[in-house]
Amino acid sequence: MVDFSKCVSEMRTSEIRDLMSVAIRPDIITFAGGMPNNDLFPVKEIDEIYNGLDDSVKKEGFQYGPTPGYPPLIESLREYLRSKNLPVDTNDILITAGSLQAINIIAKLFINPGDKVITENPCFIGGTSAFKSYQADITGVPLDADGIIMEELKRAMENEAKGAKILYLSPYFHNPAGIIYSRQRKEQLLAYLKGKEIILIEDDPYGELYFNPEDEALTVPMKTIQPEPVPICYTGSFSKILGPGMRLGWLLASPEIINKAQLAKQSMDACSSTFTQVLADQFLRQGKMKPYVERLRKIYARRMKIMNDSLLKNMPPEAKWVVPKGGFYIWITLPENIDAKEILKESMARGAIFVIGKTFDPLGKKNNTLRLAFSHTPENEIERGVKIIAEALKARL
Ligand SMILES: Cc1ncc(COP(=O)(O)O)c(C=O)c1O
Repeated sequence: MVDFSKCVSEMRTSEIRDLMSVAIRPDIITFAGGMPNNDLFPVKEIDEIYNGLDDSVKKEGFQYGPTPGYPPLIESLREYLRSKNLPVDTNDILITAGSLQAINIIAKLFINPGDKVITENPCFIGGTSAFKSYQADITGVPLDADGIIMEELKRAMENEAKGAKILYLSPYFHNPAGIIYSRQRKEQLLAYLKGKEIILIEDDPYGELYFNPEDEALTVPMKTIQPEPVPICYTGSFSKILGPGMRLGWLLASPEIINKAQLAKQSMDACSSTFTQVLADQFLRQGKMKPYVERLRKIYARRMKIMNDSLLKNMPPEAKWVVPKGGFYIWITLPENIDAKEILKESMARGAIFVIGKTFDPLGKKNNTLRLAFSHTPENEIERGVKIIAEALKARL
């Protein structure tokens, strides 16, 4: 047997990935993957962009680029983030291979083996995996419909998570919980964190995807509040608003943090893909993002409505969920004694899959929850898929 390092010996394969490989039966309806549907990608716009580029820029796209990012993209992204009132003049940007790499780099910068990290519970599995890969000791703090539960956070920070170095939050259309933090919860959080020695990662890949214009105000990042009560590393991504295959995200943080982050990235991949950075830059620069995202909002809002209506029609009263105001996910909570894995087995046999809750529990235990992604399932399959899951659930209740 080979002697793996401590960093990787704790690693477990993501159940989402395992499932995706099982769910290749063409007739299966999947609510498992947290990604856009292939038909939604802006293929035509990208064709136009590429064909309109000078040969010299095309060639540049094939080349290595500077580690912080392709300079024109940094410039156009800065304007994009400025339009959200993010403090781009006092902070620097690092372009990363998706926001997951940004989270991974932050983990690398701050975590020594055994250091404490606080995440939400449930939490995006990529986040917990990144922290675990640096041997962090993770405490998951539960959420309610308005965000992280303050009493639980305070209790954790005074006890098992005392001295935590990082607090990782995904406040806008949470993966998997589907919620968005209320303004009041964000204020309470920042007031509590003020002056504490902790780094806040504000992970925001879904904030653009609100369904109703009146909810846009809820998506205002905490990073916009100046002065920052604690150092905030703001991460974002093109994955959910352009395409995950671009592998482009960003980190907005103080120059001190970005300097070190660049050094960390240098040894990982030297630079993110120049090719996709060229395309993303032009997508922003030519004003194609706004109309494209507006279209996506309508499509996802419709898909969510179909899913929610189907859930209301078919689910037994024991199933509870918060109706999302944006993003990709509906998170179903079942009575404590129900094991989502059993529901999944039954549902898979009947032809529909989803992700079981324990995937998102940092301790990998709590499993009376299901994540249904409505983002990539064709509209005409959603109701049938939900019905299958509801029947599977009723058969196991
Ligand atoms: C909350 C959250 N953060 C970060 C990511 C990472 O996305 P990417 O690395 O593709 O930008 C995801 C992807 O699912 C996510 O849901």
